[in-house]
Amino acid sequence: MCTLVQKYDIPGPRYTSYPTVPYWNMQTFSGKNWKSTLKQSFDESNSTEGISLYIHLPFCESMCTFCGCHKRITKRHDVEVPYIKSVLKEWKLYCELFSQKPIIRELHLGGGTPTFFTPRNLKFLIDGIFKRAKRAEDHEFSFEGHPNNTTREHLQVLYDAGFRRVSYGVQEYNETVQKAIHRIQSFESVKAVTDIAREIGYTSVGHDIIFGLPHQTLDHVEETILKTKELMPDRLAFYSYAHVPWLKGNGQRGYKDADSMKKGSNAKKGNNYWPKSVIMK
Ligand SMILES: C[S@@+](CC[C@H](N)C(=O)[O-])C[C@H]1O[C@@H](n2cnc3c(N)ncnc32)[C@H](O)[C@@H]1O
Ligand code: SF4
Repeated sequence: MCTLVQKYDIPGPRYTSYPTVPYWNMQTFSGKNWKSTLKQSFDESNSTEGISLYIHLPFCESMCTFCGCHKRITKRHDVEVPYIKSVLKEWKLYCELFSQKPIIRELHLGGGTPTFFTPRNLKFLIDGIFKRAKRAEDHEFSFEGHPNNTTREHLQVLYDAGFRRVSYGVQEYNETVQKAIHRIQSFESVKAVTDIAREIGYTSVGHDIIFGLPHQTLDHVEETILKTKELMPDRLAFYSYAHVPWLKGNGQRGYKDADSMKKGSNAKKGNNYWPKSVIMK
């Protein structure tokens, strides 16, 4: 166990870009290379294993100051439909490059906050994707839900579309830490959305928790783990807080570097594994 922890105790790239950021090479990048690599990968896997699709839904209503994800903060929900239309337009461009109809085996909706979008608009997105694609028989579809705004209707609509896995951002239950990271949510709200997902039939409910947050102590981490245990998530992502204030504009500036338990490895300038965020008016 100890060897395993040591092995993975290093900064790593996020799933929100593919190829992941350390593999980006701006010198050799060109539209032509991108298309030919994409076609090649598609041909290698579509008919045998199917393909995996990640769709980034970048909007959030409120900024969590610890967040390192690529997001846009806005309360204007009129951004939803134009954004989905752009994603579907891009999807059409990809489909035109492919030699056959895509067979989607894995689909993940990440963010930002997918549950910022109305259930109806999420359905519009999924229907648009499958207008040009087939579902693999053994498909695995998942999405990220924010416990404060995931509704029964979100869960039902996505379940009906074939989703069986949801992961909730829990982060930490302690109130002082929650205030420091501007992310107030109760154990009760996490429990409610966990229970609803299970009632509907989700077979995997995941919780994300983080260590190394500002003002977080070992006791807080322990308490959060004990509370998490009460709800017994099927999956647990235990992230190490990535402190990348030089990438995050106004984010990660509400506390000092010294307020974070993690003063080590990933708090070094130059860790560009995390893409930029944008704040909208
Ligand atoms: C896109 S976010 C989650 C979805 C949803 N917006 C929410 O907050 O519940 C995915 C997860 O990334 C993790 N994350 C975000 N910023 C992080 C950071 N700076 N360091 C470590 N993990 C982070 C959080 O645990 C978060 O739940
Ligand atoms: S943690 Fe989630 S809700 Fe908070 S700003 Fe980041 S993506 Fe948005």
